[in-house]
Amino acid sequence: MKLWGGRFSKQAAKLLDEFNASLPFDKELYLEDIEGSIAHSQMLASQGIITQDEADKIKKGLLEIKKEIEEGKFKWDISDEDIHMAIEKRLIELIGDTGKKLHTARSRNDQVALDFRKWVLKRNLEFAKKIKELIKVFVEIAKEHTSTLLPGMTHLQHAQPISFGYHMMAYASMFKRDYERFIESYNRNNINPLGCAALAGTPHKIDRFKTTEALGFKAPSINCLDTVSDRDFALEILFNISMLMMHASRLSEEMIIWSTSEFGFITLSDEYSTGSSIMPQKKNPDVPELIRGKTGRAYGNLMALLTVMKGLPLAYNKDTQEDKEGVFDSVKNGLISIEILKETLKTMSVNKENMLKATKKGHLTATDLADYLVNKGIPFREAHHITGRAVALAESKGVDLSELSIEELKKIDERIGDDLDLSLENSMKSRKSYGATAPERVKEQIEYFEKFLKESE
Ligand code: ARG
Repeated sequence: MKLWGGRFSKQAAKLLDEFNASLPFDKELYLEDIEGSIAHSQMLASQGIITQDEADKIKKGLLEIKKEIEEGKFKWDISDEDIHMAIEKRLIELIGDTGKKLHTARSRNDQVALDFRKWVLKRNLEFAKKIKELIKVFVEIAKEHTSTLLPGMTHLQHAQPISFGYHMMAYASMFKRDYERFIESYNRNNINPLGCAALAGTPHKIDRFKTTEALGFKAPSINCLDTVSDRDFALEILFNISMLMMHASRLSEEMIIWSTSEFGFITLSDEYSTGSSIMPQKKNPDVPELIRGKTGRAYGNLMALLTVMKGLPLAYNKDTQEDKEGVFDSVKNGLISIEILKETLKTMSVNKENMLKATKKGHLTATDLADYLVNKGIPFREAHHITGRAVALAESKGVDLSELSIEELKKIDERIGDDLDLSLENSMKSRKSYGATAPERVKEQIEYFEKFLKESE
């Protein structure tokens, strides 16, 4: 050994421990690890690979460890490398040699695939539940505002009058797709990796259907080589969260704009707004801003894992250990974002008068006038021109097109009759095509989402 060898190798080993270990973050998987080990050992016993007595001793030991972890008494030691080794080592300490039989016909490769998959599956369902609660809030707001006018926009420019309820139902539609994505991911990935062992299966006479049933999976995976290297389930939840956050971010952006003095469409409640440390008058929309900000992180986590996976040969590679932190981060931030978005929406006030005032800017019923003229048999191009003249008249008088009297309009073109109603209200009400903004159509949309909420309970 070199003169400095002892010290150097010791330091290097410590560095390796720190570099190699996933324990600081994968302890999050302790419950799935313990449940998986109980199912595995019980199956080993029923197959006669270990005795029932041994399996029961293992189970007792594992439940003891679960208690230690939950009571904060478990001694975490980074040199154990990961949650799987930490629990197995403690099991052997607690029950002796029997504990050494637990890892029969199993590898950490199928073990981590099981634990992480199970954890992710549960989170898919948590997201689905949270999203439904959010949709419920959109429905509640929409119910109150099926006739509340606001300017519908394209290019962030006033376009046509719509109702605020209609606007809320647009978000309900978006988030329902998110709900479906989480459920679909859950269903697709609900398969059991346990028993795949390192990569090629095992010569032991195990029964993967037994652990499948015990752990509540739909079926055992069909190909072990794929199973131990598959992280699609993790990528899917990262994508689902990215899409969800993108939707939440778009709504957040609108909430930020709506709460400015220029718009004044909504006022965020004090409970969910923040102040400025220097400007005493300020009330800031930190909640939607943070949601918008956290969306970037969600995308980053997705990109990171896609990149980790792209060059991996079959089957397990240690690179895959990099799958967890991003998922934990996205799940934590995604869940809290949806929860707080829901509360912020629930507690905000809607300033109908300001919405109405804004709707009166920009001659939003111009298309209605053109459509009216077309119905009178006037070619659209000509109707467009006549409408342009009406808009010019309104402009010159400093009023909105909807505020011109019928006499004034008749002077522009004699084909305009008393039946013309250019009010904002009428414009919104007349848009009755399926899926449109007319109050009765929005009520249909509300019923649709209420039915969805009820049926997916
Ligand atoms: N900590 C590892 C991970 O998270 C567990 C699997 C280790 N397997 C192995 N062959 N070294 O991926």
